[in-house]
Amino acid sequence: MSPFQLTRTLADDASDAALRADVLTGLTRHPKVLPPKWFYDARGSELFEEITRLPEYYPTRAEREILAARARDVAAVTGARTLVELGSGSSEKTRFLLDALLPELDGYVPVDVSESALEGAGEALLAERPGLRVHALLADFTHGLELPPTTGPRLVAFLGGTIGNLLPDERREFLRAVREMLVPGDALLLGTDLVKDEATLVAAYDDAAGVTAEFNKNVLAVIDRELGADARPEDFDHVALWDPRHEWIEMRLRARHALVVKIPELDLVVPFEAGEELRTEVSAKFRQEGVRAELAEAGFTLSRWWTDEKERFALSLATVPALG
Ligand code: AVJ
Repeated sequence: MSPFQLTRTLADDASDAALRADVLTGLTRHPKVLPPKWFYDARGSELFEEITRLPEYYPTRAEREILAARARDVAAVTGARTLVELGSGSSEKTRFLLDALLPELDGYVPVDVSESALEGAGEALLAERPGLRVHALLADFTHGLELPPTTGPRLVAFLGGTIGNLLPDERREFLRAVREMLVPGDALLLGTDLVKDEATLVAAYDDAAGVTAEFNKNVLAVIDRELGADARPEDFDHVALWDPRHEWIEMRLRARHALVVKIPELDLVVPFEAGEELRTEVSAKFRQEGVRAELAEAGFTLSRWWTDEKERFALSLATVPALG
């Protein structure tokens, strides 16, 4: 059997239909919203990689610090034979886990919506580790995730703090779905950014070089290209603010003046008042007790809680108890 296999569980037009539906509902409601997943075309993914190297954007470095220090603990606690990674992207930080889990590891299952990311990451990994079986899944992990047959125990990794981009109801549904694809003895490794002072948080989403502003406005380029719209990035300001009640960062695009965006593919004309804001992302920040409670509600036990030295970011190791 070839060591690299790719299974597509996304219809070719699925993301087009989903984009249309999200733009139609999100831009005709008040306040206007768009889900953050539409940032990530090739340009958006490139901008995100650039964000991870910004001095203000600490989460990636903090999580890498934890993984470097704790990957061997993860291997010892889980004894995982299969590593499933949700939103694997470039699989860059995963190398710590893979190195610690080898040679017990039987297979690596990266799951992502980007076929190019899956192929690139799979090739790079196999070149370095010829014995590894890679079964990539082209799938949207927020919708009906199904695993290929895999050897247990399984470890599902969901890194980067991406769970914070889901709203509380979506998080609940997502964690339940992950729990349902696992059995006792399996585990979940979850990365979460932590609540901290407002200045540090806001700077991470409003960097001095303006890379995050460009990333935020990239969603307009996606809508223009995919739906024939005429939104202009220069008509909007990048906004990043801390919502202390929900304990999340919100990114928004604020219309600099009254304008309309025409979206011919949807037969839609979207008016913006001067100063009107479109929410493009929430990025929730967590505390240990909240993470423990959300995991417990989904049927997981929080077994380990690791943070970086400065306690900016946490990795939780959640296990599936024998009964329940
Ligand atoms: C790493 C995808 C979770 O919310 O911090 C970075 C994306 N948005 N800057 C985050 C992001 C703005 C990000 N995730």
